Amino acid sequence: MTVSSIAPGADRVVIFDTTLRDGEQSPGASMNLEEKLRVAEALEAMGVDVIEAGFPVASPGDFEAVKAIAERSSNSVICGLSRAKQADIARCAEAIRPAPRQRIHTFISTSPLHMKYKLQMEPEAVLQAVTDSVSFARSLVEDVEWSAEDGSRTEPDFLCRCVEAAIAAGATTINIPDTVGYAIPEEYAALIKGVMDRVPNTDKAIFSVHCHNDLGLAVANSLAAVRAGARQVECTVNGLGERAGNAAMEEVVMAIRTRHDTMPFVTGIKTEHITKISRLVSAITGFPIQPNKAVVGANAFAHESGIHQDGMLKHAGTYEIMTPESVGLSRSTLVLGKHSGRAAFRQKLAEMGYGDLGDNAVNDAFARFKELADIKKEVFDEDIAAIIDDTAMRAHDRIKLTSLEVRCGTVYRPPHAKMQLEIDGQTAETDAAGDGPVDAIFKAIRSLVPHDVVLELYQVQAVTKGTDAQAEVTVRLREDGKSVNGQGSDTDTMVASAKAYLHALNKLLVKRERQIPEGGTI
Ligand code: KIV
Ligand code: ZN
Repeated sequence: MTVSSIAPGADRVVIFDTTLRDGEQSPGASMNLEEKLRVAEALEAMGVDVIEAGFPVASPGDFEAVKAIAERSSNSVICGLSRAKQADIARCAEAIRPAPRQRIHTFISTSPLHMKYKLQMEPEAVLQAVTDSVSFARSLVEDVEWSAEDGSRTEPDFLCRCVEAAIAAGATTINIPDTVGYAIPEEYAALIKGVMDRVPNTDKAIFSVHCHNDLGLAVANSLAAVRAGARQVECTVNGLGERAGNAAMEEVVMAIRTRHDTMPFVTGIKTEHITKISRLVSAITGFPIQPNKAVVGANAFAHESGIHQDGMLKHAGTYEIMTPESVGLSRSTLVLGKHSGRAAFRQKLAEMGYGDLGDNAVNDAFARFKELADIKKEVFDEDIAAIIDDTAMRAHDRIKLTSLEVRCGTVYRPPHAKMQLEIDGQTAETDAAGDGPVDAIFKAIRSLVPHDVVLELYQVQAVTKGTDAQAEVTVRLREDGKSVNGQGSDTDTMVASAKAYLHALNKLLVKRERQIPEGGTI
């Protein structure tokens, strides 16, 4: 894989998605193997150039996930992260080996603060590590990315020396991250341009940016850097990522597409996939999308005020700078109900971008749709997306909810939850009391599957409007310093709550099986 084959034209911006690596590092956002494969498949289908699939040395689970993604990949470059250590780099090369297109991404901190306190290394030793790590990576694969961690707070002279050394050692992509989300657009653009102008061998590499969103500037910084000469943007779906997250892929891509007049660049992203992948990542990680989130929020294309609605009726361009269709939202008025048959359901799935679902998945989803349509008069697109995600998420769970009866209200004090679970194929039942109905449900689960966790978050959202709307519940559990999110949806908020808790618990079980070796985290 050479630089020119990934970025054929000067105006082409390479989209490097790190949802599965930096995104997954976000507290609570961990995904299991099955979930990572689904996200990787969706990223590849939408035309992402480079998928950072994980950090192989971090744990056997991370290694297996990167390898499994590499095995199934075809067009996207599969990238693994590694510190500037031979063992990391070798492990990374092994994990990505099955991919037809492979990249090793190696990084080391270059800012005075990080070198002194985090690495406890002298600048000259860091410089040597850059050469050594990149040369070693380059001896294993052709496509090597080098990152200057905390690049935006690095002294420009030292940054230039590191970049020159990395390119001389064979790096084909140079990434200057704004690791702590500290940069502002003009300053960051000047830094990128300054390095590109000053380092003699910059024509041998693509410059990349990786911005965190601590000041809400990740997308603005990324775009400013592209205008200054960068041609790779590292980003995540829904802006998932450490702390305030990374630059949101959908925002970067739609800004470039919508403002081509002032940013004459192109990406290879099929933007019509944006809504679907955004929902998928939200459902899998249990991170709800805020309603006013740019591009993918529920209100992003909603026009509530009379003046706006009037303008929209006269000409959509009055208040709409991009069409809902361009991000994969259909304007379809085909609302399904209890009389809708399998053909209409299939048509709706195809319209929503789920045309590639296998027969079993369609049958399961259709059965749940019918149950829902019996309860709810109108079944909207959001309901169907919730059904598809909910069904797929639970396919490999070890613990499943088979029945739930809750007694509560003014008559039944204290509230009780009678529950039946299937645990590794065995049925178990209990009846538990709690301070409230949700507490009773969670206590019932704890008595059937004893575990010691902290409940960090319990949150309910309605999928659509109306009192018959499905509830989407998010539960975050913490065990041994690690958090996981679970989601569940149902028209019955109590059932959705039980499902969300079980989803999180199933993830914890998977997490327990993953051993993180000493020093394995970034
Ligand atoms: O934020 C950062 O600096 C990173 C690097 C590892 C690229 O995620
Ligand atoms: Zn990062």
